[in-house]
Amino acid sequence: GDGDSVSITVVGASGDLAKKKIFPALFALFYEGCLPQHFTIYGYARSKMTDVELRNMVSKTLTCRIDKRENCAEKMDQFLKRCFYHSGQYDSPENFVELDKKLKQHEGGRVSNRLFYLSIPPNIFIDAVRCASSSASSGNGWTRVIVEKPFGRDSESSAALTKSLKQYLDEDQIFRIDHYLGKELVENLSVLRFSNLIFEPLWSRQYIRNVQLIFSEDFGTEGRGGYFDNYGIIRDIMQNHLLQILALFAMETPVSLDAEDIRNEKVKVLRSMRPLTLDDVVIGQYKSHTKGGITYPAYTDDKTVPKDSLTPTFAAAALFIDNARWDGVPFLMKAGKALHNKRAEIRVQFRHVPGNLYNRIIGTDLDLATNELVIRVQPDEAIYLKINNKVPGLGMRLDRSNLNLHYAARYSKEIPDAYERLLLDAIEGERRLFIRSDELEAAWALFTPLLKELEEKKTIPEYYPYGSRGPVGAHYLAARYNVRWGDLTVDQ
Ligand code: BG6
Repeated sequence: GDGDSVSITVVGASGDLAKKKIFPALFALFYEGCLPQHFTIYGYARSKMTDVELRNMVSKTLTCRIDKRENCAEKMDQFLKRCFYHSGQYDSPENFVELDKKLKQHEGGRVSNRLFYLSIPPNIFIDAVRCASSSASSGNGWTRVIVEKPFGRDSESSAALTKSLKQYLDEDQIFRIDHYLGKELVENLSVLRFSNLIFEPLWSRQYIRNVQLIFSEDFGTEGRGGYFDNYGIIRDIMQNHLLQILALFAMETPVSLDAEDIRNEKVKVLRSMRPLTLDDVVIGQYKSHTKGGITYPAYTDDKTVPKDSLTPTFAAAALFIDNARWDGVPFLMKAGKALHNKRAEIRVQFRHVPGNLYNRIIGTDLDLATNELVIRVQPDEAIYLKINNKVPGLGMRLDRSNLNLHYAARYSKEIPDAYERLLLDAIEGERRLFIRSDELEAAWALFTPLLKELEEKKTIPEYYPYGSRGPVGAHYLAARYNVRWGDLTVDQ
């Protein structure tokens, strides 16, 4: 009810994610009036810090949206007054009892709802869950825990983690974040498919030639090599972010918009997929490159990465869904760091128009003449459809033009960060955008055999220069399925 209190404890409060994403998202929610009236935020970490020091740290990363600049300073002040700090060990029940006492004071006898955001490395995960649940759970309201990947590094370790979590929490208390599900255009995927007549009838092998899921970053693992080297790009991006997008893209129509109905469909489609083998992938690793007098480092130049590391920083893969809708349609994924641009997009390439009257005019390059739907998740959000169009004039010349929904031009509102939506959903108990344990299991089942094979065979990645378009192997892989990567052609 309205009189209930919500306490949000950020465990690992001095970490990067907390500073960059969690506190700013909480502030944005506060500014928008989305947080309940009685809320308290606690930072929890090992280092000694006072409330004031935490506030100073947090205040450095808070920003106001462009359209909300007016009483920004005042709002920040109000927000920071609700932020506190408790120093403690992650495996100490006593320290969590102390936290519990402090939380109770703030709750002042109201119904107490508690959200723990675990922004800590995996090796201390379970300790923190055990302590939070045994010593700082709510007595009369809900207790929920948000956890971030890595959720293990293969099927076995992930299952072990799930099992340990469930010793202390029920499935409905666990909120597994995949922050890509909180992105505006990923959430819009279902709206696009299921609330428009014109897409869903085309959404199958009958009209779609291939689907591409592309992620690229124009920077390396700078500073995160220690974490990254144990995981690699397949676990870091493909097994979660890109696969989640694929599941939403390819799932059957859910019974309703309820979390369980949607997640049932996602699991179903994931379980219809063929586990990957070495044949279906190409891996790469960036090497040093000098351009314009600047030398960009190789992955293995990172001090926290072993010199002989074979960890992929790039991967391309072909996936297949063995069901009636998608039989034979390649879903190509590509993810990489230290590439030439930063982008996440979905590309849908449609089939050729049978008996196209205009073939001779378009020319012989049939590939260029098929329709392509592009959903650009970031940056500069957009949805556009490439069509063939007559160039105005007396002659008959065709070109490729875009029907374009460009978010910045269409909507004046700034798009909320993914973490805002996800935190709000967790507070409201909406589970639609969180990963259920059977989904996680299905996702790992697809990638585990491949990951094992790569590691056992010590597969050498193809080296690509920092800032390039990645290994050429990705082109050969696509070509094997008669596919051309859409992101390497000019769209507009
Ligand atoms: C994280 C990965 O999950 O997603 C990072 O661990 C990656 O390696 C990040 O940089 C990308 O997220 P975004 O929202 O910046 O695209």
